[in-house]
Amino acid sequence: MEPVKIGLLGLGTVGGGTVSILTRNAHEIARRVRRIIRITHAAAIDYNPELIEGIGQIEKISDDAFVVVEDPEVDIIIELIGGYSPAKELVLKAIENGKHVVTANKALIALHGNEIFAAAQRRGVTVAFEAGIAGGIPIIKSMREGLAANQIEWIAGIINGTGNYILTEMRDKGRDFDDVLKEAQALGYAEADPTFDVEGIDAGHKLTILSSIAFGMPLQFDKTYTEGIGKIEQQDVLYAGELGYRIKHLGITRKTAKGIEQRVHPTLIPERRLIANVDGVMNAVLVMGDAVGSTLYYGAGAGSEPTASAVVADIIDVVRSLATNPENRVPHLAFQPNALSDINILPMEDTETAYYLRMHAIDEPGVLAEVTRILGDSGISIEAILQKEPAIDASFVPIIFLTQRIKEKNMNDAIANIEQLDVIDGEVMRIRMETLE
Ligand code: HSE
Repeated sequence: MEPVKIGLLGLGTVGGGTVSILTRNAHEIARRVRRIIRITHAAAIDYNPELIEGIGQIEKISDDAFVVVEDPEVDIIIELIGGYSPAKELVLKAIENGKHVVTANKALIALHGNEIFAAAQRRGVTVAFEAGIAGGIPIIKSMREGLAANQIEWIAGIINGTGNYILTEMRDKGRDFDDVLKEAQALGYAEADPTFDVEGIDAGHKLTILSSIAFGMPLQFDKTYTEGIGKIEQQDVLYAGELGYRIKHLGITRKTAKGIEQRVHPTLIPERRLIANVDGVMNAVLVMGDAVGSTLYYGAGAGSEPTASAVVADIIDVVRSLATNPENRVPHLAFQPNALSDINILPMEDTETAYYLRMHAIDEPGVLAEVTRILGDSGISIEAILQKEPAIDASFVPIIFLTQRIKEKNMNDAIANIEQLDVIDGEVMRIRMETLE
């Protein structure tokens, strides 16, 4: 049988890993798919051939990616350039030319996936994107196929390795935020624009995709709430620990009676949960299904070969389905395209969580009463209060409140009122809390 011919766009961290795996494991892969997979044409401008095992097997390397998507010999395009443009134009052109596409580009899928999938469906080709979400963890495969019997209730995931690495180093070694971020960049984990990692945008892209696959709705990144980890201080990490919690940067999506919550933010979670112990650059996704209960998926969320592992698995999937009727392939968003429903995604003000609040108050009688009155007036029930020693020479004492679940709007009002009090210094720090039960 003719070999399957691959056009590879990008020979960076993930592209290099993809070439290495296809070379090293060629025999095993051929045993799985009964076809030889060959990279016949690649496009790259800046790459280090010495770092890529098997680069000599690529028949042709161009510096123009459009030449590769126009190559009539190529059956499958692997897009590993990243970013929105020209990635979008390249992918749409590949589809127009009748080529299947494998991509690790979560930003592209989260923002333009609806248009890309519609084009692919019209042309009868597949766009596979496992490598975009949680690196080497086969979470898309698990959700679209392994959990297909279930109604998904909620998902909570640590889906950005860089952010998790920063929070872990802050907790374990008391290191500074900026210092750890620089290290993550040097290790090749961070996005080209590292604000995507620390501001939760990258996790927001991934959550948008997971949410659509969970609930069968079009991709809506613009409705995903994202909040970064930049405001987390060493003292919050410490107090959370004293109270039996860890702070993780979570992507959470949940189906409620009023609509879908779709949010990324730092979150306190009980330290006894398995996911609370996922450290460093590792990722984990916790999925709650009505039939299966909770299932947890864990693995490397970034890095060359872990991400390339997902790219190659997608290539294998596409090769296996080459001879199948497009109607019988697994739908891009898990549900049949004409069965996707426009479920309401709730604005952040309408979502409900419990909260950790830290404020600095004058240490005198009646202060706690004033704060608790404001919380009570907003319908907020207190779960625990912790008053810490003031720092030497400081006239304010840190006070920490844990609250029960309440609508975000009520909490916003309460915080605004607390910050108005003369006895409170500066802003109130708010971190949302989830029990993940
Ligand atoms: N920058 C991403 C992360 C890479 O840190 O998780 C994988 O998507």
